[in-house]
Amino acid sequence: MSGICAGRVVVVTGAGRGLGRAHALAFAAAGARVVVNDLGVRLDGEPGGENPARAVAAEIRAAGGEAVAHDGDVATGEGAASLVRTALEAYGRLDTLVNNAGFLRDRMLVNLGEDDWDAVLRAHLKGHFLPLRHAAAHWRAEAKSGRGPAGRVVNTSSGAGLLGSLGQGNYSAAKAGIVALTLVAAAELDRYGVQVNAIAPAARTRMTERAFAGTMSAPATGFDAMAPENVSPLVVWLGSAASAGVSGRVFEVEGGRLSVMEGWHRGPTADKGARWGVEEVGEEALRLLAEAARPGAVYGAGPG
Ligand SMILES: NC(=O)c1ccc[n+]([C@@H]2O[C@H](COP(=O)([O-])OP(=O)(O)OC[C@H]3O[C@@H](n4cnc5c(N)ncnc54)[C@H](O)[C@@H]3O)[C@@H](O)[C@H]2O)c1
Repeated sequence: MSGICAGRVVVVTGAGRGLGRAHALAFAAAGARVVVNDLGVRLDGEPGGENPARAVAAEIRAAGGEAVAHDGDVATGEGAASLVRTALEAYGRLDTLVNNAGFLRDRMLVNLGEDDWDAVLRAHLKGHFLPLRHAAAHWRAEAKSGRGPAGRVVNTSSGAGLLGSLGQGNYSAAKAGIVALTLVAAAELDRYGVQVNAIAPAARTRMTERAFAGTMSAPATGFDAMAPENVSPLVVWLGSAASAGVSGRVFEVEGGRLSVMEGWHRGPTADKGARWGVEEVGEEALRLLAEAARPGAVYGAGPG
């Protein structure tokens, strides 16, 4: 099959539904052989009794592409290891990892249970780290044996991780952690020829269609801005060899709008060259704040 990803083998986690499914179909259409992972859980992470990974792999094959299904939990060591093993056993190589799987347990902080904290951090943050670690170990071995892989990782953050989101303390913390993990991985894996970037998408999926029904619904005619398929072209490009030189970046993508996110950087600064007094540091902090740009509003909190 020809296309920007011809010859590449791509793993997409959480690809049985929503954005991951759209990415898997787009990679296959771009010529990649795809490992479609999905544990088939409900929106709150509880067992769902379905195998959507198998359905999406079959959909790709029916359209003339190549795909295999993997229905393991990417937030476990064995699930992540067998995910990478599946790519190597089925197709003999691994070129791109798209970390996308996850679920929600939204609560205001005062009601957020320890289980809901752990479950969401585990699925998103550990569910990014473990596949990344296993893929990186493979790419390091490839680089050491002189094969110079053009490895690519696309991680999935969220506006919630960049600005915060009311009722999503667990999710926002996990998604912010994914951005920091992306920066570290990009710096550490550069020497092996591996690029690591992150996206903050917005699209109509089961995660958003009820909470944001007004903004997510499809128009009767014209451009369906919230279709998940609008996010996938950037993910395919980042996951291809064509994105050479792009690493450690975060892109926001929604409908036809694409933004490079510019993150934390040092703003107004004062250096006394000695320890500040408490009142003195307070006065100085207020002076610096008056000069500083205001942060964007937390999602759900109205204008900042
Ligand atoms: N939809 C949006 O607007 C939006 C916005 C920002 C970020 N995101 C992120 O995009 C990603 C995809 O979300 P979506 O909206 O398509 O949701 P979705 O619920 O449609 O898809 C997520 C898939 O991940 C699978 N999954 C969950 N835990 C798993 C695990 N441990 N191992 C393997 N599979 C697992 C689920 O079974 C599900 O099919 C998520 O990381 C989400 O946080 C989505």
